[in-house]
Amino acid sequence: MSATDYLERIPNNVSLKDNRRLLRALEEWQPKFLEWWQDMGPHGYQAKDVYLRTAVSVDTQGWAQFGYLRMPEYRWGIFLAEPEPNRAIAFGDHTGQPAWQEVPGEYRGTLRRLIVTQGDTEPASVEQQRHLGQTCPSLYDLRNLFQVNVEEGRHLWAMVYLLDAYFGRDGREESEALLQRRSGDRDKPRILGAFNERTPDWLSFFMFSFFTDRDGKYQLASLAESGFDPLARTCRFMLTEEAHHMFVGETGVGRIVQRTCELMREHRTDDVSAHGGIDLPMIQKYINFHFSVSLDLFGSEISTNAANFYTLGLKGRFEETKKDDDHRLKDVTYPVADLDGERVAMREQPALVSLNERLRDDYVVDCARGVARWNQVIARAGIDVELTLPHRAFHRAIGCFGDVRVSPEGRVISQAEWDARRDDWLPTKADEAYVGSLMQPVTERGKFANWIAPPARGINGQPADFEYVRLA
Ligand SMILES: [Fe+2]
Ligand SMILES: [Fe+2]
Repeated sequence: MSATDYLERIPNNVSLKDNRRLLRALEEWQPKFLEWWQDMGPHGYQAKDVYLRTAVSVDTQGWAQFGYLRMPEYRWGIFLAEPEPNRAIAFGDHTGQPAWQEVPGEYRGTLRRLIVTQGDTEPASVEQQRHLGQTCPSLYDLRNLFQVNVEEGRHLWAMVYLLDAYFGRDGREESEALLQRRSGDRDKPRILGAFNERTPDWLSFFMFSFFTDRDGKYQLASLAESGFDPLARTCRFMLTEEAHHMFVGETGVGRIVQRTCELMREHRTDDVSAHGGIDLPMIQKYINFHFSVSLDLFGSEISTNAANFYTLGLKGRFEETKKDDDHRLKDVTYPVADLDGERVAMREQPALVSLNERLRDDYVVDCARGVARWNQVIARAGIDVELTLPHRAFHRAIGCFGDVRVSPEGRVISQAEWDARRDDWLPTKADEAYVGSLMQPVTERGKFANWIAPPARGINGQPADFEYVRLA
């Protein structure tokens, strides 16, 4: 394992200085990245000191260093998790063979597409969130937003490193294209649907970080099993950063729920909008929206692509190496939700083509754990309401439920019923306008917007009223 070269212009633990060709490619890309960051990264605040965590090494003693810095000076580096000695491919047709240190020629195109698709989500989310700084509910939240943003920038670096280091000229072209697509752009949109949606307010941001970043966790976790070792190691390290993003989402929604409950009790009403809060049914609608669009990111229930990625040893299952089966899956089945006339039914399908659905199942279980923690907040306040995840068939655009209308309980319904009920289930223009009206910036130290509770604790042992962003 090579030491962390933190003094170089591009901090790294991949011995960049010994690879002149790669170093030159990345040094050429760096100013374009910075230009993109200035154009499409967080709007405003670029010249302010922010209390940020920077990855400086990957060892377990602590890879993160906290301190004030201006975002454009963040050290976007290239860090791969420690190599596992003699690592073998853990699944598919190549099970047991040594993990690849170079791209197998015949899988080049497939692997590149996987990396580009993942890589594209990283700058996309920065673009989606770029206006949120203007309406932050506190300095604490502002700092967390920027932490997420710089780390998504680093994830882009991680993917660009792989493209530049292992895919020659094609890789370099893809690296450029990653800076050229734009979230929500009609002519050159980001690759995946959820990454072209707007993130107009902080409720949406927290929901996105909880639901959509969690899709990222599951995609990264399955790529962390890849037989292509540099990809596996890159993703393993990215997962450590991703955990913080989901923490921001889960605690963000949890603090909104908490504040709503406080207002409900204080004013003895379910409708806290008169008191500047976000009521629980509205939070439920935002859950319904963000959960359903994030489910789509896993792709079709039945997918020969997913089967190929697995059989070729490129993308494994969540926690592949912890599973106790043959890791080839050729003769087994997996229960997959499907449409049976007018109802949703489970059907056994060949396990290999069902891998998207299996990953979606792992994801749903994880989401449900977070929702249960939000419900604990409500229960502790003595309020008899439960937030729920909508049925997986609800409001889907991709896969076998993409063409039918399904209620949040999982009942297949007519278009007419959908039209009549849609506004009970998903945020309306009026809901969005109301949430938008709450988004007044609060930047006084230690103060929090009225619609969200302060955090239980601050970042890195600092108090909640710490000066997380220096505005002076
Ligand atoms: Fe990311
Ligand atoms: Fe993330």
